[in-house]
Amino acid sequence: MQRLKKPWAGRFKEKTRESVESFTESISFDRRLSRYDIEGSIAHAKMLGKTGIIPIDESKRIIQGLKDIGEEIKAGRFKFMTELEDIHMNIESELTRKIGTVGEKLHTGRSRNDQIALDMRLYLRAETKKITALLRGFQKTLLFMAETHITTIMPGYTHLQRAQPVLLSHHLLAYVEMLKRDIARLSDCLKRINILPLGSCAMAGTSLPIDRQYTARLLGFERVSQNSIDAVSDRDFLIEFIFCLSIIMMHLSRMAEELTLWAGEEFSFIELPDAFSTGSSIMPQKKNPDVPELIRGKTGRVFGSLISLLTMMKGIPLSYNRDMQEDKPPVFDSIDTVKASLFVLNEMLPEIRFNRERMLKAVTRSYSTATDMTEYLVRKGMPFRKAHAITGKLVLYAIKKEKNLDELSLGEIKRFSALIEKDIYPVLTPEGSIKAKVSEGGTSPVEVRRQIRRLRRQIKAGR
Ligand code: ARG
Repeated sequence: MQRLKKPWAGRFKEKTRESVESFTESISFDRRLSRYDIEGSIAHAKMLGKTGIIPIDESKRIIQGLKDIGEEIKAGRFKFMTELEDIHMNIESELTRKIGTVGEKLHTGRSRNDQIALDMRLYLRAETKKITALLRGFQKTLLFMAETHITTIMPGYTHLQRAQPVLLSHHLLAYVEMLKRDIARLSDCLKRINILPLGSCAMAGTSLPIDRQYTARLLGFERVSQNSIDAVSDRDFLIEFIFCLSIIMMHLSRMAEELTLWAGEEFSFIELPDAFSTGSSIMPQKKNPDVPELIRGKTGRVFGSLISLLTMMKGIPLSYNRDMQEDKPPVFDSIDTVKASLFVLNEMLPEIRFNRERMLKAVTRSYSTATDMTEYLVRKGMPFRKAHAITGKLVLYAIKKEKNLDELSLGEIKRFSALIEKDIYPVLTPEGSIKAKVSEGGTSPVEVRRQIRRLRRQIKAGR
């Protein structure tokens, strides 16, 4: 094939070495940005026409050419070329081939430095919306499950030791709250993504009478960047975005860890659907929780991307440096990972079967209502510390007798405090314990139902 001319050929006596072309190219991955590159170029061409920098009819021809290229790419008919390095040059070169020298006017008043910053901002803006939609969908699934399991009791844990009885609904809603913050973080990050860098040109701006406010309006940007050096140097919007994704993955990974534990025989709290598990090639009895395990595993990739980007940026002087081309693979990979993880978890979760008896049994055999006994004594006027110590002694006694607290006779219990009456027994059951936790944000069914209603309303209102 005829080797294509580089835009910088005028200054060069030699052509680029092939090894250098394959080392420096980004078209193998930045082709993902094609629709945003075209969207940005169309807006830029419109602005060039409107300001009279190029004639209107030429601007129109450029726009039509760009639209045609967009269609070809969509249909898979576009031939991406490594010697044209990146998405910007691939599209511009094809434009000129299509519409002739008029195509050479498109790059007036811009550079690839502000162009790539623009493409990434447009791309991240779109992805923020997609990921937010997935997070909302997942919240809805969890809310639905919380409603279904409003009577399911399980042990709540601290230090992975059974701590206090809680409703499974309450546990599930904890994740809804995390996802709520994840959405809020993304929406805050979007404020810093949604800024137009185009028109900063290589780094100093331009002498041509461009209208950046107009381009910003065309592309739906809220603001225009105010320092051309910063605009082509800045990747913090992108690092912040991956930080948001890292927290999402950290949350999903914690859930994945719980599902993996709960599916294990030691817990046996849940059974994962067959369709979401795999077997062993050697041990016929096995059913493995690969989906949650892989979510836990893939979390490392996203954290790794965050560190790559921070490290890539920390030592480069202003303004644009080619190092920054390396931002794309980690960003793309993180976005793919988060979307795939959210998608598969959302599909799997409603099909999990919860073993209610096992969960309840784990609560009863755990002295997990000891705190309720302490609060009972507090209600009878005893100072908290004293009540704690007395209950502690009672638990020790019960352990020795191999009995649950509510299996001790009133006579046995009374030996520890004369304040204790028959009304202690309902306090010591898991149901009684849960019902009593009426404090705001607590695990009582009344409160959990109220939280479900609140979250439903908020999610419906898009908050
Ligand atoms: N492929 C480049 C990147 O991803 C586009 C900008 C290139 N600019 C340049 N001066 N070489 O950052």
